[in-house]
Amino acid sequence: MSTRKPIVAGNWKMNKTIKEARELIQGILREVQQIDAVEIIICPPYVCLEAAKQETEGSNIKVGAQNMHWEAKGAFTGEISAGMLVDLCQYVIIGHSERRAMFGETNETVNKKIHAALQAGLKPIMCVGETLEENQAGKTAAVVEGMVREGLKGVDPTEAENLVIAYEPVWAIGTGLAATPEGANAVQRDVIRPVLRELFGEEKGNAMRILYGGSVTPANAAELFAQSDIDGGLIGGASLKSDSFSAIVKAAL
Ligand code: PGA
Repeated sequence: MSTRKPIVAGNWKMNKTIKEARELIQGILREVQQIDAVEIIICPPYVCLEAAKQETEGSNIKVGAQNMHWEAKGAFTGEISAGMLVDLCQYVIIGHSERRAMFGETNETVNKKIHAALQAGLKPIMCVGETLEENQAGKTAAVVEGMVREGLKGVDPTEAENLVIAYEPVWAIGTGLAATPEGANAVQRDVIRPVLRELFGEEKGNAMRILYGGSVTPANAAELFAQSDIDGGLIGGASLKSDSFSAIVKAAL
């Protein structure tokens, strides 16, 4: 275990109506409201952000969005800017593998979004991770390193503390096949952390939180979070129920 404060973030993806979001948040609060040693973040769909903000007001739960556009405003039908989000939430997930695979997100657009988010005062959770094919071809380290370098290009070291990285191997997301704790930690400790130290300096790079995501459950969370460079998790499926999400939060204690 490190001295970094762990984060457990729930990525709800395209799930929950406003009413369901309120109920889920109330359920989570009942179980985790006393916990200060873990930073707890929920990332509902855009339309639930206002309700999430209301439900979490004055609590230990923070709110994040799942995506954003890099431009401040204009003719971008269907898009949402950082300036619109900053009144509703503190965090924003950027470059999730589903955005990369299904909606044309690239390291270049990720980088533009990272800059726009930081400029607006949002804290990005930048997702990186290799596909099964890349993994099997032995390209994990090269792919992940490239994603971190390109995604963070030009980011000032003074912003390091506002950035979170999530290592999410694509083959582990939603499959029930989580990476092994040692395997995930090897990527986070030996590939991602050294790049962060190089970009932002020893102290800042060591202080940044690197999450693991991909089939985290109450059963495997504690073992994953016990690794030296796994500073919490980005949780998909298991964040949609208050009991499983709360159990994962407690596993980070
Ligand atoms: P999962 O999703 O926990 O359902 O595997 C994780 C994610 O996509 O962030």
